[in-house]
Amino acid sequence: MTLLASALVMSESTLAIEPPGKALAAKIGVPWPAVIAHRGASFDAPEETIPAYMLARELGADYLEMDIQRTRDGVLIALHDDTLRRTTNIAQVYPDRITQPVSSFTLAELKQLDAGSWFNTAFPARARSSYVGLKILTLDEVIDIAEGGENKPGLYIETKVPAQFPGIEEDLKNALAKRGWLDQRPEAAKGRVNVAHMPGRVVLQTFEKPSLELLQKSMPQVPKVLLLWLGDGYIQASSDATFKTSGAKDKASFYAGQDVKSEAEFAAWMAWAKAHGAIGIGPSSALKDGGDQSYMDLVKPWMNRMAHDKGLIIHPYTVDDEVDFKALSARGVDGFFTNRAAQLLAFYGRPSAESLDTLLRRNGY
Ligand code: G3P
Ligand code: CA
Repeated sequence: MTLLASALVMSESTLAIEPPGKALAAKIGVPWPAVIAHRGASFDAPEETIPAYMLARELGADYLEMDIQRTRDGVLIALHDDTLRRTTNIAQVYPDRITQPVSSFTLAELKQLDAGSWFNTAFPARARSSYVGLKILTLDEVIDIAEGGENKPGLYIETKVPAQFPGIEEDLKNALAKRGWLDQRPEAAKGRVNVAHMPGRVVLQTFEKPSLELLQKSMPQVPKVLLLWLGDGYIQASSDATFKTSGAKDKASFYAGQDVKSEAEFAAWMAWAKAHGAIGIGPSSALKDGGDQSYMDLVKPWMNRMAHDKGLIIHPYTVDDEVDFKALSARGVDGFFTNRAAQLLAFYGRPSAESLDTLLRRNGY
């Protein structure tokens, strides 16, 4: 074999074993592939509560994912919905305020709510009496959990409905700085999750372009991910059909039939993300078995190639089943937002040595 031929063989084999996102992630200082515990270990415990985040940390997730909003008295809290109906007992505590936005409540008012019992009703097979009476958490309390174990996960923070919270990006910067999360953090013990020590210890995420710009202005050094959606002011879709006009049998089928208007449209979003400080994208994905987490397929192979070519890593949301972990990994994604951190860790060959039940019991749940 000539020198040139052997060099070609070597570079081909190097390409085959070194996925493009892996090198990008290493350059940014983000773990690869990444296990992002979506609202904590939220399949097994009420989302964005102490047991959900504690469990994610103990299982060995790389990141605790949370949605940040702000109370009327200016405290940053972790909560997904912009009202309290789905995940609390607001109907009993403040029956005349059921449809009011989270931003209209003080922290003291929110702390009156039970953010755990809804889970027991919705998921009786996973219910625990210890979930009754769980509280909505502040950002500070989530940080306490991230810092509180032997594993040291990072924080993957979304600015939720940021237009409702002018200045929240700067508030977030001040809160993270106060807790020392914008500086180097101590190293975890050997063999433990050590993401909090890495440059990508915090990843900031948003669906909203104006919020990404403000995050970039406030925290230029912190990695940022632009979350992707199709239609309604986001990436332009190939059709104007709505679920109602489409005749699709369910929302997942409708979303699965949606596509981007053109490659040029997708490329324009990648270029915008890169130019405004993003190090990655958070695309929706169409799941094999559908369901209410199954959206538009924005992780098509050509899209992933385009994102990687632009220097962007890819963390799709929200994926819980092995069949999808496998299919999307084969398309080159760089980790997942998942409610089932235990399953994803096992898929990546990093299973927890202890069961979910053991971890919950040992920690008082
Ligand atoms: O943040 C990624 C993913 O969480 C986006 O969806 O609605 O669960 O915040 P959502
Ligand atoms: Ca989120």
